[in-house]
This record gives sequence, structure tokens and C-alpha cells, in this order.
Amino acid sequence: MRALVAIVLVMPAWADTGNAVCARCHPAIAKSYAGTGMAQTSGRTGQSTRKESFGHANVTPDYKLQIGETSRQLEWYIGSGRIGRSYLFRKGGQLFQAPLSYYAEPRKWDVSPGYENKPYLEMTRAVDQGCLQCHTSRPAFVEGGVSCERCHGPGEKHAAQPARTNIVNPVKLAPRQRDSVCAQCHLTGAARIARAGRERGSFTPGSLLSDSIAVFVWDTPGGEGPTATSHFEKLARSRCKQASGDKLWCGSCHTPHADSNRAHYNEQCQSCHRPAACKRSAGSDCITCHMPKSAATQSIEHLAFTDHSIPRRQGKSNPAAAGALKEFWTGQSNPRDTALAYAVAHLDEAYPKLRQAVAANPRDIPLLTELAQYHERRDQDDKAAVLYTQILQLDPTNTMAAVNLGTYKIRRGLTKEAIALWLRALAKNPALIGARMNLAVAQYQSGDAAAARASLKSVLDYEPEHPAAKRMLEQLEQ
Ligand code: HEC
Ligand code: HEC
Ligand code: HEC
Ligand code: HEC
Ligand code: HEC
Ligand code: HEC
Ligand code: HEC
Repeated sequence: MRALVAIVLVMPAWADTGNAVCARCHPAIAKSYAGTGMAQTSGRTGQSTRKESFGHANVTPDYKLQIGETSRQLEWYIGSGRIGRSYLFRKGGQLFQAPLSYYAEPRKWDVSPGYENKPYLEMTRAVDQGCLQCHTSRPAFVEGGVSCERCHGPGEKHAAQPARTNIVNPVKLAPRQRDSVCAQCHLTGAARIARAGRERGSFTPGSLLSDSIAVFVWDTPGGEGPTATSHFEKLARSRCKQASGDKLWCGSCHTPHADSNRAHYNEQCQSCHRPAACKRSAGSDCITCHMPKSAATQSIEHLAFTDHSIPRRQGKSNPAAAGALKEFWTGQSNPRDTALAYAVAHLDEAYPKLRQAVAANPRDIPLLTELAQYHERRDQDDKAAVLYTQILQLDPTNTMAAVNLGTYKIRRGLTKEAIALWLRALAKNPALIGARMNLAVAQYQSGDAAAARASLKSVLDYEPEHPAAKRMLEQLEQ
């Protein structure tokens, strides 16, 4: 069982100046940038120029999500809404992702990606830190969208004493540092592993992304890997990029402060290719044939819709080279990060790699966690329990280890110990529904029906539709 993690907003601590300050001296850029999808990719509900249409029984025009008797106020959106939007709400000081999203085509509300096969609309999915890191800029959405400083770095000193030397201009960086600026959000990969001792969102423009996270991508023989979809991965497969090297980057075709138009893209092709080089071309349009859009533009799954592998012929997206899971930039990484990437991607080779990495880093909690979960998936409970105990010794507030060790204890009849572990986890994160259901059962079995009822009511407070909690409470109240 993978426990939810309590919400701590991990945001770059420095991003404090804000677009309004930059706009005072760079008004034209600020105005133009404000119109882009990136600038509008998150914010307070109702404050965006792109409006949703309502009519779905579960969401009212003032953004109340209504489920049965319960309602939740959707406070923030993620996604500019050209394709779609996800929403966040708060309960008890925690942030959750809404089970419904808005889809621009056809304009309607529907179940969020990943909730399709759930028996009821879950209301306790903790918001993924990754969403916030790529879609918002300052803690608690003080600033909606991708801010100037996400690409230009901390601007406080520059705003006080403007000079070219105290602000990052991506084009003036060395190629890998330059590419890192866009890659922090546009290189999704199969696994993004925070380097030992680093937070996932600790990248600062001007530095190397690979110093804070290792991004692993699929490299499968003869075809596309299962998630080889991000713009960086695709572009890396184009002949244009392979033959031009560092000269070609995202900024070769995209203007950062405005949405570019098709004429601009076609001009960029022709800065390297004479139209005559293509026997099929007629006129100056190149992207219609060579960078076709996929039909998947209705999905808000993370896909590159435009084929950035720039294939010769449509429908023949350029394939990957031979290999397995590799670090994007260098093709290799240290044993710890590689082991974590294999574990995150659920590959069989993960086990020997994790074993070796744990032996070398016996106090590394991400490694211990992945190894424990590996054992748990294979029903090797005793081995998992030893590791969970170790994790709790290193970090007594680790809710995931407490919840899972509790489950191990209850299976062995150690009810009191299990209850204590679950209470400890729930004190830190009250929205751990699975743990609270288990707690209710354990409390009932140990003769405390009142405590069990209280636990079930608390489950229903968070998850009003929870079928098992409803059933059990009815039985207990008879
Ligand atoms: C008080 C006015 C002022 C404020 C506020 C300000 N800038 Fe500037 N900025 C300037 C001036 C003036 C220059 C040109 C400096 C020069 O030519 O020596 C500049 C240059 C730049 C450059 C070009 C650097 C280069 O090497 O080409 C960037 C990028 C930049 N600013 C971004 C920002 C960002 C981002 C913010 C907000 C965090 C910001 N500026 C806030 C006045 C300001
Ligand atoms: C902090 C994260 C972040 C960074 C840094 C970032 N992007 Fe984006 N970008 C996004 C998100 C999120 C979207 C989706 C916007 C939406 O909701 O429509 C996006 C959308 C885009 C689009 C589609 C057009 C648009 O404006 O919506 C282009 C093109 C793009 N980014 C290029 C770049 C380039 C080039 C760089 C580097 C110079 C870069 N991005 C840096 C997060 C980022
Ligand atoms: C690694 C960075 C990254 C992460 C993590 C991420 N996104 Fe995105 N998201 C993007 C980018 C970039 C786009 C633009 C299109 C693309 O590249 O697929 C996007 C597009 C979207 C869109 C469509 C916006 C539109 O209308 O154009 C939605 C909605 C969205 N993301 C929601 C989420 C949610 C919810 C999460 C967390 C579960 C999340 N994203 C995690 C980078 C990210
Ligand atoms: C998605 C990344 C990104 C964001 C967000 C962004 N910029 Fe830039 N900015 C760039 C890049 C890349 C360049 C270099 C463009 C070039 O010369 O090709 C640049 C160049 C600049 C320059 C110097 C060159 C010029 O055009 O005058 C200034 C000033 C600047 N940006 C200010 C801002 C301000 C102010 C904001 C916020 C309103 C902002 N930028 C948001 C990526 C970004
Ligand atoms: C920075 C320069 C540069 C830019 C910009 C560029 N290309 Fe290329 N492209 C190249 C190079 C170099 C090659 C390899 C030429 C060769 O192998 O003879 C190439 C190869 C190609 C090929 C052959 C692909 C294959 O698999 O054989 C096509 C098609 C192509 N480019 C189309 C485009 C289109 C369309 C654009 C604009 C969207 C574009 N290129 C932009 C440099 C560029
Ligand atoms: C050779 C030109 C070229 C390069 C280089 C390039 N793009 Fe694009 N990109 C395009 C074109 C063309 C579109 C489609 C624009 C449209 O239809 O309006 C596009 C669209 C996008 C979109 C919108 C979503 C989609 O897939 O349609 C994003 C995001 C994006 N590019 C990101 C990137 C990033 C990040 C990089 C660098 C890794 C990059 N692009 C490099 C030409 C390029
Ligand atoms: C009507 C669709 C179409 C348009 C428009 C188009 N191309 Fe092509 N292009 C193709 C096809 C198909 C091929 C492959 C031809 C072959 O394999 O014999 C090709 C091949 C190429 C090649 C590889 C040439 C070689 O001999 O290796 C380049 C480079 C290229 N195109 C660039 C461009 C540029 C630049 C433009 C815009 C000025 C453009 N194309 C417009 C369909 C198109």
C-alpha cells in the first residue's frame, strides 16, 4: 500500500520578487508574456480569462464540487484550459486534487486522469508536488503561472540595481545550462529522481538540472518507449537535433515571451534548410508535413502533441536507439539514482540494483523505501517490515513506513502496536483513508466500538462516498 504523503509546499525559496516588479521596467515583455499558456497555467478559479462552461451536475458556477451532501470549494486551477484543467481544494489545512477535471474539447467536466477505474469519486488524493513545481511559481499560488524568475532566476538584486550581470539570460548560458531552464518542466521522462540530499524542485536557472534531479528516459530497441513523449525526448530523436547539436534548442523555434505563429516556425526551418532541399515542398509551409499534430489533443495526459522528432514521413515517428532506462543527458548515472529509477519504473532489474545501493547507502530513506515496497509487492513481508522499522528509526515522522508497518503488525495479531502506529501516522496526515479504515476495524476487534465509530465518521468526513465505511458504520449503529 502506497501511503499519501502529507502536504509540504516545496517551492524555490528565492522566487520572491514576482512578475509585477519585473513589469515596471520591462512592460512590453510582461504584457506579451501574460498572454501565453505558460503565464496562465495556474491561478485562482474564476480569475482566468478562459472560462469553463458549467452544467455538469457536480460543479456549480462558483466552483463548488458537490458530491452527495458534501461540497468542496475548488480554489485553484492547474492548466491554462486550452486543453483542460485540473483543480485543487483544501480541507483541514491540506491540499487535494479534485476528482473531476475540465476538458476544453468538448467543453465539459469529467473524471480526472487516473480516477477512471475508482469505484467512487475520491476526495483525498494529495496534490502531487510535481504538478505544483511545473505549473505554479510561488508558495500557495501567490503568483499564478510560470513566473519570469522560473526562467531568469532570482531577480531581487537585479530589480534593486538593474544590470545585465545580476540576472540570468538563458541564451547566454552554456548549452546544457540553457537547456536545463526549459527541461525543468518539459523533460518529463520515465522517472525524475531527486539527487541525494536535494529536493525535486530545488533547481535554479543558471545551474544544471542534472545537479538537482536525474531524469531517466526509455530507450527501447526498435520503437518508442512507453512514456517517451516529452518534447525534449522527441526533439533528441530528430535528425535536425542530432546533426546540429547544441545549435538547435527549444528557443530556436519558440519565442519565450509570446506564443509563436506558424510563419515563425516555418522561417526557422528555412534558416537551416533551403526549400529546394525538399522535393515535396511547395511554398514555405514545412511543419504541416514534418511536425504533424497527433489526434490526442483532447487528452490532458502529458504528451507532446506536435511531433518533435521531425520525421521524414508522417506516421513514422523517429525511433529510439537500443538500450533500457538511461539518464537523459549523459546516458548513465550513479548506482543510487539508477536503482531508484528502475524501482519507480517497476523493472525487474531494480532488485539487485537496490540491494547494492542500500548496502552502500544504509541511511538513504528513498532507497530503503523503494526496497521495502519491492519486497511488499512480492509478499516478502518480513523483509519489508525490517526496512520499515529502519526507516522509522531514521525518521520517526515517516507516515508511509508507520502505515505499512502497522499493517504488518495487525496480520500478526499485534493489535495494540498496529493501532499505535496508525494513530501516529494519522496525527501527521489525517487524510490517510486506508490507514483509518484499518484502524476502525482494529479498534472494533479490540472491543472499542465507540472509537471505531469515531474513526469511521472521520473517514466519511473526508470520503463521504466510501462504501465500506458507510456499510460498517451502519452495522455498528444498529
Ligand atoms: C528597476 C528596473 C528593472 C527591474 C525592476 C527589472 N529589470 Fe531587468 N533590466 C533592467 C535594465 C535597465 C536592464 C538592462 C541593463 C543593461 O543594459 O545594462 C535589464 C536587463 C534584463 C535582462 C537582460 C539580461 C541580459 O543579460 O541580456 C533580463 C533577462 C531581465 N532584465 C529580466 C528581469 C526580470 C526577470 C525582472 C524581475 C525579477 C527584472 N528584469 C526587473 C531594469 C529592470
Ligand atoms: C516552470 C515550468 C516551465 C518552464 C521553466 C518552462 N515551461 Fe514551457 N510550459 C510549461 C507549462 C506548465 C506549459 C503548459 C501551459 C498551459 O497550461 O497551457 C508550458 C507550455 C509551453 C509551450 C506551449 C505554448 C504555451 O505558451 O502554452 C511552449 C512552446 C513552451 N512551454 C516552451 C518553453 C520553453 C522554450 C522554455 C524554456 C525557455 C519553457 N517552456 C520553460 C512549463 C514550463
Ligand atoms: C515535469 C513537469 C510537469 C509535471 C510534473 C506536471 N505537468 Fe502538467 N503540463 C506540463 C507541460 C509542459 C504541459 C504542456 C503540454 C505538454 O507538454 O504536455 C502540461 C499540461 C497540463 C495540462 C493541460 C493544460 C492546457 O490546457 O494546455 C493540465 C490540465 C496539466 N498539465 C495538469 C497537471 C497536473 C494535475 C499535474 C500533477 C498530477 C501535472 N500537470 C504535472 C508540465 C508538467
Ligand atoms: C519560459 C522561460 C521564460 C520566461 C517565463 C520569461 N522569459 Fe525572459 N527570456 C527568456 C529567454 C529564453 C530569453 C532570451 C531570448 C532570446 O534572446 O532569444 C529571454 C530574454 C529576456 C530579456 C532580454 C532580452 C529582451 O528580449 O529584451 C528580458 C528583459 C526578459 N527576458 C524579461 C522577462 C520578463 C520581465 C519576464 C516575465 C514577465 C520573462 N522574461 C519571462 C525566457 C523566459
Ligand atoms: C539548426 C538547424 C536546423 C533547423 C532549425 C531545422 N533543421 Fe531539419 N535538419 C538539420 C540538419 C543538420 C539535418 C540533417 C541533414 C542531413 O542529414 O543531411 C536535418 C534534417 C532534417 C530532415 C530529414 C530527417 C530525416 O530523418 O532524414 C527533415 C525532414 C528536416 N530536417 C526538416 C526540418 C523542418 C521541417 C524544420 C522546421 C520545423 C527543421 N528541419 C529545422 C538542421 C535543422
Ligand atoms: C524545429 C522547431 C521546433 C523546436 C526546435 C522545438 N519546437 Fe516545440 N513546437 C514546434 C511547432 C511547429 C509546434 C506546434 C505549434 C503550433 O501548432 O502552433 C510546437 C509546439 C510545442 C508545444 C505545444 C504543445 C504541442 O506539442 O503542440 C510545446 C509545449 C513545445 N513545442 C515545447 C518545446 C520544447 C520544450 C522544445 C525544446 C525541447 C521545443 N518545443 C523545440 C516547433 C519546435
Ligand atoms: C507536402 C508535404 C511536405 C512539405 C510541405 C514539406 N515536406 Fe519536406 N519532405 C516531405 C517528404 C515526404 C520527404 C521525404 C522524401 C523522400 O524520402 O524521398 C521530405 C523530405 C525532406 C527533407 C530531407 C531531404 C533529403 O533528401 O534527405 C528535408 C530537409 C525537408 N523535407 C525539409 C522541408 C522543408 C524545409 C520544408 C518547408 C520549406 C518542407 N520540407 C516541406 C514532405 C514535405
